[in-house]
Amino acid sequence: RTETLRKYVRMAPVIPVVTIEDARTSIDLAHTLVRAGLAVVEVTLRTPAALDAIAAIAKAVPEAIVAAGTVLTESQIAEVADAGAKFIVTPGTPPKLAERLSAAPIPVMPGCATVTEAMALAEAGFEILKFFPASASGGAAWLRSVQGPLPALSFCPTGGIDQASAPAYLSLANVPCVGGTWVAPAELLRKGDFDRIGELAAAAAALRRPT
Ligand code: 3PG
Repeated sequence: RTETLRKYVRMAPVIPVVTIEDARTSIDLAHTLVRAGLAVVEVTLRTPAALDAIAAIAKAVPEAIVAAGTVLTESQIAEVADAGAKFIVTPGTPPKLAERLSAAPIPVMPGCATVTEAMALAEAGFEILKFFPASASGGAAWLRSVQGPLPALSFCPTGGIDQASAPAYLSLANVPCVGGTWVAPAELLRKGDFDRIGELAAAAAALRRPT
């Protein structure tokens, strides 16, 4: 499962984090992102429409990799897997949730914000972690600092990142991709402005790690 997740986080430099109010918009959104070069999208469980949106994308846009984000409780693990989510993302990972996530039927990118939390997740078998909230928790400097002590771990930083700050993160060897809401913000989704979302997504897809 780690290898599957590794493949997903290497598919594009940015994972758009989206909050969907109307599940009907999710298919246009997924097509727009995939066309622009962002195949992976994290749908947060922050709205009643989220599960339907995940199911709609999984069914109608098979070339998209839809993740379920903001997974906070044990019961949501089966719900999102049943809806067709390809992997699970959590903002933080208390020990009991980590234990349940270890047995999840799909890959998991658990959230952490400290070295101790990252070590606990590594002990539980997770190697690819979400670093959240990234900019508030130390940003790219934190990630650079943990490369030495935690060489086996990689991180998808999310929280406070935008087009301008993404390159500093993507230049780090332990950062395969970053996440953020700037690509498909709620206002643009509400307006159905997929042209603008497509432009933002294309710019995000063009961000690359220097090789
Ligand atoms: C998340 O859940 O990952 C955050 O809400 C990302 O938000 P931001 O990109 O707007 O900081």
